[in-house]
Amino acid sequence: MKKILMVCLGNICRSPVAEGILKHKLEQHGIEAYVDSAGTSGWHNGEQPDARSMANAKKNGVDISDQQSRQVGEDDFEAFDLIYAMDNANYSNLINIAPEEHHHKIKMILNEVYPGEDRPVPDPYYGDDGFQLVFDLVNQACDKIVEQLK
Ligand code: 4NP
Repeated sequence: MKKILMVCLGNICRSPVAEGILKHKLEQHGIEAYVDSAGTSGWHNGEQPDARSMANAKKNGVDISDQQSRQVGEDDFEAFDLIYAMDNANYSNLINIAPEEHHHKIKMILNEVYPGEDRPVPDPYYGDDGFQLVFDLVNQACDKIVEQLK
């Protein structure tokens, strides 16, 4: 069974949405995979996703309220087959802490939609209006991921 990890900075806004959307789609398609999310920082360890992120996901039919923030750990690079970074800083941080043998697992999530462009999922934390854009971008990427897992 494939194991997929979604990663952002705080694990309260973007990567919880990515985890929730991918789990939702896999369930719809009857595909078995293990999906989790984490943050490159541990600033929000143990917290529920950001209230704005939960509300926006729910509005789009995805419940992420059962998630808890955690920081990426060394074991994750061994445990997961695919590790998706939401933005360029997350990507660099992951590459910097991952053993070289696991670097090939680390990808920019929007490269699934825009190959080779290294486009970021914009951080919505300091604004109120970025959450639907996050949802739409991650939703497109998860469609591509599901196609590959089929
Ligand atoms: P996320 O958003 O990385 O999508 O979870 C952020 C969450 C928290 C902070 C920054 C971004 N922060 O500065 O605490």
